[in-house]
Amino acid sequence: MSRSARLVPTVTPSLLNLTLAVALTLGLTACSSPGGVHAASGSAGVGDPYFPKSGNGGYDVTHYDLNLAYTPDTTDSSEASDTSDGPDTPTLTATATITARATTALSTFDLDFQGMKVNSLMVDGKKASWTRSGQELKVRPSSALRKGGTFRTTVRYSGTPETITDPDGSDEGWLPTADGALALGEPTGSMAWFPGNDHPSDKATYDITITVPKGLQAVSNGELRSETTTGAGEGAKGVPTTTYRWHVPQPMATYLATVAIGHYDITRTTTRNGLPVYVAVDPQEAEASRKVLAGLPEIMEWEEYNFGPYPFSSTGAIVDRDGDAGYALETQNRPFFPGAPDTATLVHELAHQWYGDSVTPKTWRDMWLNEGFATYAEWLWAEDHGGDTAQQTFDALYRGTYFDDKADDDAVWAFPPAMPSSAAHISDSPVYERGAMVLHKIRRTVGDARFYDIVQGWAAAHRHGNADTADFTAYVEKMAPGKDFGGIWKDWLYGKGKPARP
Ligand code: TRP
Ligand code: ZN
Repeated sequence: MSRSARLVPTVTPSLLNLTLAVALTLGLTACSSPGGVHAASGSAGVGDPYFPKSGNGGYDVTHYDLNLAYTPDTTDSSEASDTSDGPDTPTLTATATITARATTALSTFDLDFQGMKVNSLMVDGKKASWTRSGQELKVRPSSALRKGGTFRTTVRYSGTPETITDPDGSDEGWLPTADGALALGEPTGSMAWFPGNDHPSDKATYDITITVPKGLQAVSNGELRSETTTGAGEGAKGVPTTTYRWHVPQPMATYLATVAIGHYDITRTTTRNGLPVYVAVDPQEAEASRKVLAGLPEIMEWEEYNFGPYPFSSTGAIVDRDGDAGYALETQNRPFFPGAPDTATLVHELAHQWYGDSVTPKTWRDMWLNEGFATYAEWLWAEDHGGDTAQQTFDALYRGTYFDDKADDDAVWAFPPAMPSSAAHISDSPVYERGAMVLHKIRRTVGDARFYDIVQGWAAAHRHGNADTADFTAYVEKMAPGKDFGGIWKDWLYGKGKPARP
């Protein structure tokens, strides 16, 4: 099976910030003693080696309650824009209530929030002051927060959310579409539409409530709790609105949160073991999507058989128009597809629900634990359904005859899966294809029975948690005592260049 390669990255951010980032992980940058309490400022990053500003130190979010009211931008863009008239009508007016636990005494703490306007900010019901600098929203509560205490931050904000271009050149954050908008967050897009601790290491539960003009739909993660439409004259400005309340009961990383607003054909079914399936498809993509999406319950069953119990309380998909985003994404419960998906991509994004969404990387360096697994799931699906065996796929990659052109085949060896060369390359083929090759090498070493014990056991051991590459190698070694994985780790996982033996 041959396929085309992903986008070639265009930007190369430096890793010079690495040492700085590591220093920041200590979480303490200053000390002050309001009222005799020894409290510090939470750091402006959690020390991610690739995204040093992502996340914040000093607290741990347990729940996000997001209340979003969206009004489509009806400004005629063909008219000469006159920004001197003042700000545009906000397309998004929102309140985020963030419940968190202070992991240290805090005089100030940061939230990640890029763009939009902050209108008010309260901590535990009292006005707090704030300053903004780039993606950092620094909050100073009226009194210091005590270590171990739970505190609630309420941010009211409005404006038109930004589209963020990530280091590999792809667009994320808030993406306007022909009939609405789309929020996608990997790796740093969530900070464009809600303030938070925007790093995969801090997962939380969510309530996401979206109010849209009547006639539009709003789809998000988790389960739809209610859908209520106001009568004429009741809504803001007398325009009838519909409010969709989504609830996410299992922990979710910020990058997996999504909102899709527009017109969708909604299909609600259940799998054979009773799991709710909620599928939203742009009517323009309905015909082209029908056959593949009809296979979703069967893919879920196959994945549960191979990967173990499904970690969430609903599944589904969101299909928007081709071009609404430049990639598919494993948004929790409900993966997103730009245009009708093919079966391999559906298998890939659903496999991420186990590997990525439930077992989430500790930092963006551990991306291969997401993409290597999801890619290997595609190989296994093909093998089980009359396509190439995983061995054949592995061999084609090793020979350099897998992709349509040589540059893509060579790119597989550009860097080790466990050490992407920079933030611009975390979604390159060493992370995907070579990551999958590592899993295949493990399978060849331990045999099929033990291999499936390992992939299922890994999903169970870190269910709803975070893990890194060292956790994974230790787990594999524990599960296969007496086997030697030294060469696989050294040459395939951490080694530069193409390993000498397939
Ligand atoms: N995770 C997506 C997938 O493979 C791809 C992707 C979208 C991605 N945006 C990204 C990967 C940003 C890394 C960074 O299904
Ligand atoms: Zn993926």
